[in-house]
Amino acid sequence: MHIIVTGGAGAIGRHAVHELLSAGHSVTTIDLREPPQCMSGEQFIEGDLTIQSEALRVIRDADVVVHLAAIPNPDSDPPERVLSVNTVSTYNVAEAVRRNGIRRLVYGCSESSSGFGIHYVNIKPQYLPIDETHPVCPHETYSLSKRFGEEIAVWYAQAYGFEAVALRYAWVWLPRDAAGIQALVERHRAGNWQVGSWFGAYIAPQDVAQAVRQACDVPLGCGRLEAFYLTAESTFYPVPTLEVLTAIFGELPEVRDADYFVSNPYATPFDTRKARNMLGFRPAYDWRHYEEWVYATPK
Ligand SMILES: NC(=O)c1ccc[n+]([C@@H]2O[C@H](COP(=O)([O-])OP(=O)(O)OC[C@H]3O[C@@H](n4cnc5c(N)ncnc54)[C@H](O)[C@@H]3O)[C@@H](O)[C@H]2O)c1
Repeated sequence: MHIIVTGGAGAIGRHAVHELLSAGHSVTTIDLREPPQCMSGEQFIEGDLTIQSEALRVIRDADVVVHLAAIPNPDSDPPERVLSVNTVSTYNVAEAVRRNGIRRLVYGCSESSSGFGIHYVNIKPQYLPIDETHPVCPHETYSLSKRFGEEIAVWYAQAYGFEAVALRYAWVWLPRDAAGIQALVERHRAGNWQVGSWFGAYIAPQDVAQAVRQACDVPLGCGRLEAFYLTAESTFYPVPTLEVLTAIFGELPEVRDADYFVSNPYATPFDTRKARNMLGFRPAYDWRHYEEWVYATPK
């Protein structure tokens, strides 16, 4: 297949492009900036996706668009810029997908779109584990932008009859955050943990790339969107997840599926079974060995 990856010059984008090329696809990367080095089989086109005429010019002649371009950090830019860049660029990408007859949009969403990732207010889940049908409550600029992006993809896929996938992956451990990650890992390896309001969900960029590849290939019906939560196998806490959530909330939310935490007491509160069953997703990277993978940048 020929696959366009927006934001392909970014940290997760490099892993996604590498994974897709390794699977035999050809890839066009679209980004504001050139990748440090184009990979064999990769073509680069510069484009600002907040400008609709540019999106329509650069997003064409592909089987699938993987849309990763965004501002990934709510604190790096003024909030109204995070909201507008992320939402408007996703709208423009969806317009290009439908007007240029592209079959599938794979949207790089976030578990923050649920309101339980990056958040200001500590909202208690209605039940555990949190699956794709659990109600959402995003309430800060980045999470709202990711949620709006998914809604645009849902409604566009339905109205215009293309296929769409939303990958709601957790905090991606990247080299740019390595100092903070290392401090956290060392504390947790020593069994010294302190709970904040974070549920402990994270994922390796290599595992996000695995899901991107699977999302490009999975058989889907036209006119609908399939969303998937994606995390590592376990949280980054050295204690069972229900203990972590009790420390956060005092009283646990209803555990609807007790087997889930019996089979893996450290499983993240986000239910990844839909991704396992439909995509064949198998996360391979774990926080205890993070030095082996966190610094790896595909070339
Ligand atoms: N990093 C995480 O922990 C995380 C977690 C969940 C979801 N995500 C999502 O994954 C995607 C990739 O995140 P990342 O961490 O690799 O970010 P990144 O900043 O490393 O990469 C994003 C890329 O998008 C490009 N871009 C931004 N605005 C653009 C525009 N208007 N037109 C064209 N290109 C533009 C940037 O130049 C950059 O290369 C984002 O959509 C982000 O919201 C990230």
